[in-house]
Amino acid sequence: MGMNIFHRYLCRSSAWERASATRIVPWAVESIPLGDNALEIGPGYGANVRTLRERAGALTGLEIDPALATRLREKQGGQVRVIEGDGTAMPLPDREFSSVLCFTMLHHVPAPARQDELFAEAFRVLRPGGMFAGSDGLDSFAFRLMHLGDTCVPVPPGTLTDRLARLGFTDIEIGTGPTMFRFRARRP
Ligand SMILES: C[S@@+](CC[C@H](N)C(=O)[O-])C[C@H]1O[C@@H](n2cnc3c(N)ncnc32)[C@H](O)[C@@H]1O
Repeated sequence: MGMNIFHRYLCRSSAWERASATRIVPWAVESIPLGDNALEIGPGYGANVRTLRERAGALTGLEIDPALATRLREKQGGQVRVIEGDGTAMPLPDREFSSVLCFTMLHHVPAPARQDELFAEAFRVLRPGGMFAGSDGLDSFAFRLMHLGDTCVPVPPGTLTDRLARLGFTDIEIGTGPTMFRFRARRP
């Protein structure tokens, strides 16, 4: 789950925040209605909060790192309700959210089976009709280098349709760009 110093620096930088808010998130959630109650898993330094708030009525962030959760609450607590917890075992009720989102965090979940637990939890906390969507980096030498000494378990996008369908998701769409993939799926 940890991040090395370079990676920590990158995630906190304004260049990252701009790239994430203006390119990654708009691409990942393009044409998806986020509804009145969105959940972001792994908001970190909060790069995506403003962009998500423009598209969702209310926003909750579920962050596993206690220091990041506290920091985000202090900095953007008026924009996002911050809950400290694990996306693979969410301290959140069933059928609460109109959308569940995650960006650039799945590779920090340390094993495919744990990633599948996170997907199952996303399904559980979604309302029927709600969308699960997000994006992450594609595996590459540069991506691995950036994560030296960190957890780095990239999701092969070709596996996602089966992994999500098995849990009951429908309308699954996967798209790939040069360095990232995006996914979206519906809880029927
Ligand atoms: C690389 S950062 C990305 C932050 C943000 N989503 C962005 O796009 O800038 C990954 C974040 O996911 C968090 N994270 C990792 N595993 C998690 C889990 N199981 N549940 C919730 N958050 C998690 C990390 O603590 C970190 O804040």
